Amino acid sequence: MVILGIETSCDETAAAVVRDGKDILSGVIASQVPVHSPFGGVVPELASRMHLEYIIPVIERALGNAAIAAKDLDAIAVTRGPGLVGALLVGLSAAKAMAYALQKPLIPVNHLHGHIQAAFLSEDMPREPFVCLVVSGGHTALYRVDPQGDSLLLGATRDDAAGEAFDKIAKLLGIGYPGGVAIQKLALGANPGAIAFPRSRFEKDSLEFSFSGLKTSAANFIRSHSAGTFALEDFAASFQEAVVDVLVEKSIKAAKQCGLGGIAAVGGVAANARLRERLAGESAAENLRLYLPPVRFCTDNAVMIAAAAFRTWKRSGPAPDMLALDAFSR
Ligand code: KG4
Ligand code: ZN
Repeated sequence: MVILGIETSCDETAAAVVRDGKDILSGVIASQVPVHSPFGGVVPELASRMHLEYIIPVIERALGNAAIAAKDLDAIAVTRGPGLVGALLVGLSAAKAMAYALQKPLIPVNHLHGHIQAAFLSEDMPREPFVCLVVSGGHTALYRVDPQGDSLLLGATRDDAAGEAFDKIAKLLGIGYPGGVAIQKLALGANPGAIAFPRSRFEKDSLEFSFSGLKTSAANFIRSHSAGTFALEDFAASFQEAVVDVLVEKSIKAAKQCGLGGIAAVGGVAANARLRERLAGESAAENLRLYLPPVRFCTDNAVMIAAAAFRTWKRSGPAPDMLALDAFSR
């Protein structure tokens, strides 16, 4: 079954063609980073406008790279939410129009489900049940992924997502966007123990997260120290370490509490080199298998949407009333 996936939930316009949820025939991403960069974050109005500009060429290129004609697709899949509604609507409208004109089924995909399915794009095929850390700009949560494809929420952030904290602090430092990438770059080779930032852990068994205390503490540090009085690199490394410490600790704790043998990490922050390194070391020490998708499938992409759609299709078929489908923000 050959599926065209379309993703426009935030600031990447993406399309991909995937066969049977695993054979990647093409994957195209038009990044809007240069457009939003001057503002230090995503400007929703600009995102919608750029999606409009990019969507048709991106879909055409995905079909071209896969050497497949639109009429030979078996279905069209699209992210329906959560995300920026104006951005989502561009992809959703394009997908509906294609599905209607070509008389193909439309498969709506939840963006989070897409990220979770990226675990199956890891080199090592995950064996369910496993723990999945979903860590992105909008979400930070732990799920238990079961063989039938269900994901059970084990714990989530009480406030900010980890990626959001990276982005806000990078913006305050004026070091660029997306913040996680900028902080990772600065942190390379610097001292992660230079500044003692707080770690929120809650009760002993808690699988919840909180990053607002860390964010406030880092923001206060920036405000109370004038530029040049501290090493930016050490600040970045210390901040990154505080985020990574909690993410790694809770992922391992979740696997142990649930008696599961494997951990996957997905979403934009799972592209973080320090997080990947720490997860690798600590899961090996605990005898847990680790499933990490390649970095390009951690950040937003359409391959994961087409892959997720294949599993949704096998379970529940296409959307019954596809033209009535609406986007949702949360
Ligand atoms: O999954 P994603 O592309 O979009 C959402 O669904 O949110 O995640 C974007 C987030 C941003 O907050 C960005 O700063 C963060 O992922 N991110 C990173 C890295 N690359 C992207 N955070 C830490 N280290 C990275 N290398
Ligand atoms: Zn995402």
